[in-house]
Amino acid sequence: MFNPSELAVLRRAYARQVTFLGDAHNAALEAAYVGVPREAYLGQGPWQIFRWTGGYTPTPDADPAWLYSDILVGLQPERGLNNGQPSSHATWIASAAPAAGEHVVHVGAGVGYYSAIMAHMVGASGRLTAIEFDPDLATRATANLAHLAGARVLQGDGSKLPFAPADVIYVNAGASRPADTWLDGLKDGGRLILPLTTSQNFRRFNFAHPTGAVFRITRRGESFDADFVSAIGVFPCEGMRDEVSERALAAGFEKGGYREVKRLLRTDDVSDEDCWVKAPGWSLAYR
Ligand SMILES: C[S@@+](CC[C@H](N)C(=O)[O-])C[C@H]1O[C@@H](n2cnc3c(N)ncnc32)[C@H](O)[C@@H]1O
Repeated sequence: MFNPSELAVLRRAYARQVTFLGDAHNAALEAAYVGVPREAYLGQGPWQIFRWTGGYTPTPDADPAWLYSDILVGLQPERGLNNGQPSSHATWIASAAPAAGEHVVHVGAGVGYYSAIMAHMVGASGRLTAIEFDPDLATRATANLAHLAGARVLQGDGSKLPFAPADVIYVNAGASRPADTWLDGLKDGGRLILPLTTSQNFRRFNFAHPTGAVFRITRRGESFDADFVSAIGVFPCEGMRDEVSERALAAGFEKGGYREVKRLLRTDDVSDEDCWVKAPGWSLAYR
């Protein structure tokens, strides 16, 4: 087994590598990856490591050293539910850029590892609200985050539960449309990290022909800027799947153009040429 000082060195290398791989240029984020021990959140090893070629493989033993690599770790492997890939989270968290003193709402917190990363970034003057739908995972997240004074964990549907106005809303499950609670809950200047996915997205991820995309939605008064961040394949968001929006997204991914999106509108009263996707009550527009 690696001893604690060896693990600390490993974490420094891991933090540098995953922020590099995620193209995430944010010193506070790299420091958070250094400062937060992944093994404290994922429970006792051996751990089930996700294989992109299919299935999982267990680590040979319970040495936390195995966790300091750009790997997904099964939380509930039988459901394909994982602690996500560190470099991908680096990309998404860097695009949200949580800053000292801010309030972060994390929807789909799992066991709280990436919640703790963002709590590290906002620091003692900041606040974290972590929301997890699955009762077992929420119980684990509650225990894992109990040492953080500014953190609280809620079990339930993060698209419906109320929360205090947020600087960052970080959603880690695939929705087919933006939730009103997320748009209404953003402070002016606040950033929502929003994965939008079709019904085919989960388990059939293909970078060349994506069926899911992460957008950063930035509130400007009553308007919302939107930027494409990355493609994604992700576990679906409970309560946030509707068939009409799914069909609109499927057609949007088929035709392309998601990288050119500039604005989220809370209406579908927009011409087809001016938007990538529209469905009742919302659209992603090009200007
Ligand atoms: C891809 S997993 C990510 C877990 C965690 N972020 C991680 O990487 O370790 C997605 C998580 O979102 C949760 N989830 C799905 N729908 C949700 C909802 N409406 N509200 C809160 N959590 C939800 C799932 O139970 C699951 O734990």
